[in-house]
Amino acid sequence: MRVVSGMRPTGKLHLGHYFGVIKNWIELQKKHQTFFFIADWHALTTAYKKTADLQKNIEDVMVDWLALGLDPQRSCLFIQSKVKEHAELHLLFSMITPKSWLEWNPTYKDMKYNLLKLQEISLQFRGGLRDAVREFINMIPYKVEDFEKLEERMLDDLAETLIAALFEGEIEPDLLKKLNVSKREFYETDTYGFLGYPVLQAADILIYKGEGVPVGEDQLPHIELTREIARRFNYLYGEVFPEPSALLTETPRIPGTDGRKMSKSYNNAIFFADSCEEVERKVMGMFTDPQKLRKNDPGRPNICAVFSYHKLFTTKEQTEVIEKNCIAGKLGCVECKRKVLESLEEFLSPIRDKREKIKKDIKKVREIFSEGSLRAEKEARETISEVRIAMNLR
Ligand code: TRP
Repeated sequence: MRVVSGMRPTGKLHLGHYFGVIKNWIELQKKHQTFFFIADWHALTTAYKKTADLQKNIEDVMVDWLALGLDPQRSCLFIQSKVKEHAELHLLFSMITPKSWLEWNPTYKDMKYNLLKLQEISLQFRGGLRDAVREFINMIPYKVEDFEKLEERMLDDLAETLIAALFEGEIEPDLLKKLNVSKREFYETDTYGFLGYPVLQAADILIYKGEGVPVGEDQLPHIELTREIARRFNYLYGEVFPEPSALLTETPRIPGTDGRKMSKSYNNAIFFADSCEEVERKVMGMFTDPQKLRKNDPGRPNICAVFSYHKLFTTKEQTEVIEKNCIAGKLGCVECKRKVLESLEEFLSPIRDKREKIKKDIKKVREIFSEGSLRAEKEARETISEVRIAMNLR
C-alpha cells in the first residue's frame, strides 16, 4: 500500500502530534512505501501574512520528525513546495471540483467560523430562524425525504447569507463591533486558496497515487473529498487514481495539561523541545480530579489527565496500583505527578537528546529533505504525465 500524509509547519511538535499521527507514521514506514511531507503551501492558506517564521517552523518540524524516528531510509521525507507537480495537479483538480463541494466541507466551515469568531453569530441567527424554517418546510408542496437534513441545510444557508449581509453592513453593524471582528478581516481571511485547501490536499495525496492516508479524525472530510475528486477524475478521463482511505490510529488521544485537547493555542502542550525543567513545571501544574482536594480524598482516575498519562507512559502493573490507590484515597496527586514525570521523562529524554544532536547539523537535515523532494518529484512527474495524457493536454 502506498501511504501519503502531510503536516502543516506550525512550529515545534508536541505529544499531541506524536500520539495523533506520527506514532502511526513510524509504524507504517516499516511495512509500506511512505511519503511524508511538510505542507508549507497549506500553511499559507491561513497565515499568508506572516511568512517571516516559515523557514524556522519548517526546520523545527524537520528536526522533530527525525528525532521521533521518521527514517529517511524508509520514508520519503520532503517539502511540498519543492515538488511543483502538486500545484499543477491542484490546478487541474480545481477545474473539475464543484464549488459547492468545498463550501459544504465541514472543516472549511469550522475553520472559517473559528478564525473569524462567527460561531456565536451563526448560532444566534440559526436559533432565531428555526421555527420559521420549520414552518416553511411544512408548506413545501413536494415530498421531503429527510426533514431534519433539509432544515439544517436551510438554516446553514440562511445563517451564511445573513452573515454576508452583516459584513456588507446591511444588518446591525454594531454586532460586528461587539464580536470584535472586522469586515476587512473577514474578506482577507476568506481567500480563494483557503477555500481550495482540500483540493490542494487531494493533489498532495493523489499525485503519489496514495491509497492510505494516516491522519487525525479532524481530517476525515478532506479524505472524503479526495475520494470524490479521484472518482470524478476517473469518470471523466479514465482510470488514473486510486480512491484513498484514511488510516486512523487506535492510540488514545493524549489530553493537554489542563485536560482539554492538547494544542499550542491552548497553552497546555508538552513539546519535545521543552527542557526537563519545563516538563517538570508543566506536569506539576497539571489538572487532576477537582473533587480530590486532599491526599486522602478518593480520586477518579478516569477523569484525571495525569492518569491518562500514566496509561501511556507508566508500566501496566504500576498503573494498576496507582489506579487502585488513587480510588482508595491512598495516593496524593503530588506524588502521583512525580511518578508520571518520571515515566514521561524516560520517554522524552532520549528524544530530547536526539533532537539536540540533529539540530546541530541543520545543513544535513535540509539535505535529507532536499533529497526526499527530488525522489518525490520523480514519482510526481510520472503521475502528472499520465494525467496530461488522460486529459489530452499533451
Ligand atoms: N490538512 C492536513 C492537516 O492539517 C495537512 C495535510 C496537507 C495533509 N496535505 C495533506 C494530510 C495530505 C494528509 C495528506 O493536518
